[in-house]
Amino acid sequence: MKKFIQIGNKIENLNKKIYVDGDKSLSIRWALLASQANGVSKAFNLLKSEDVFNTLTCLKKLGIKVKREKNIFFIKGNGLNGFSFKKNIVLNAGNSGTLGRLIIPLISLSPNKIKLIGDKSLSKRDFSRIIEPLKKLGVSFFPKNKKRLPLIIKGAKKIQTINYLEKKGSAQCKTAIMFASLNSNKKVSIKAKKSRNHTEILFKHLKIPIKVSEAKAYDKIEISGKRDFKSFNYKIPGDISSSAFFIALAILTEKSKILLKNININPSRIGIVKILNMMGAKIKFKKIRIYKGEKIADIEAKTVKNLKAINCPSNLNSSAIDEFLIIFLIASVSKGISHFKNLSELNKKESKRLDWGYMILKKMGVKVKKTKNYGLKIWGNPKLELKRKIIIKDYLKDHRIFMATVIAALSFGGNWKIYDPDSIQTSFPSFLKIIKKLGGKLN
Ligand code: S3P
Repeated sequence: MKKFIQIGNKIENLNKKIYVDGDKSLSIRWALLASQANGVSKAFNLLKSEDVFNTLTCLKKLGIKVKREKNIFFIKGNGLNGFSFKKNIVLNAGNSGTLGRLIIPLISLSPNKIKLIGDKSLSKRDFSRIIEPLKKLGVSFFPKNKKRLPLIIKGAKKIQTINYLEKKGSAQCKTAIMFASLNSNKKVSIKAKKSRNHTEILFKHLKIPIKVSEAKAYDKIEISGKRDFKSFNYKIPGDISSSAFFIALAILTEKSKILLKNININPSRIGIVKILNMMGAKIKFKKIRIYKGEKIADIEAKTVKNLKAINCPSNLNSSAIDEFLIIFLIASVSKGISHFKNLSELNKKESKRLDWGYMILKKMGVKVKKTKNYGLKIWGNPKLELKRKIIIKDYLKDHRIFMATVIAALSFGGNWKIYDPDSIQTSFPSFLKIIKKLGGKLN
């Protein structure tokens, strides 16, 4: 792949139907849960990206049979804790926080030590959020007191009971405890700040005994009873986080309308749509249907002329957590001063995304200020038209920085040089192909 791409032209008149790649959260969850099921599970439209391929490679190392026939993936699970593997294996989670944090609970009964490593970006990310609860359940981590990869993990003799309070709104943390609970025969309770709830929905679908009591900001999750489950097939819907780039492109481009087909619109993921609609967009869900407990729809987004600034309610942060770079771009051309706050989690992603959001806007010449409580104030300029040269590099290959800046270049003009296009391989390998199909000129 090229070292960088250059964009010097805005895109025009978008009018297309688009299929984005499969949902990353659901793809990784399907693979990990299929490895614990009894029998062969099938997935259609699994996301074919590095994060998912790394998941499959880790499972193969743990003795799980994985097969692919064109667009269908097969995983043969040997039941709970049914891994069989050699001593001293090393698992590589690559760039994926979801894989790194969710594979550990699946080896939580392993008597042999396993080493978990990741790439440069993942090795900077916080693992204490899962180490803390998993230690309480009996899992050991070495070196002691270390918070980041590489880590060595040794399973518990028995998974203990736990009553855990998850305060960050991290679905990965919540899911790690839920996955570990599969290996327990005791009751596991979690009070978790609201976050994406795909795992809860999958557990219900798999008839794992789970009770979820929803309250305003926190959900209570209890798992007790017989945990084993049968293999299951899944048709992975499109990813709303990948759709977000095209929703923004349609909003920011004159005379445009885009229809994104077959997208997961789980209410815990649609913060982007709620926030942009508050800013004046008229994003619509069409043909809403339910698939195995998940809400699916086609999403229509159109050009918006009069975008307005927003004081973004923090209770939407978690449901839009992967989309803030895009939201900041829209705020740059929305009339008035937008304010976003309580976004400390953004700086804990594949790169420090809050800092990067600030830097990208600065490079674009947009007036922006950091505020206390991990916030940004953005002075929107509806007439924003870039002429300058902008270089984006050294961003730890964060796929979302690459894609968001491509959208900025195609929407606002200017001469952009954006490094590391191969970063899209982690979550959305078709991204540039779709951009070209829409008429985007890339060099
Ligand atoms: C994910 C949860 C989120 C999100 C990530 C995927 C998941 O992270 O940012 O891209 O699939 O559970 P946190 O759990 O750290 O909030």
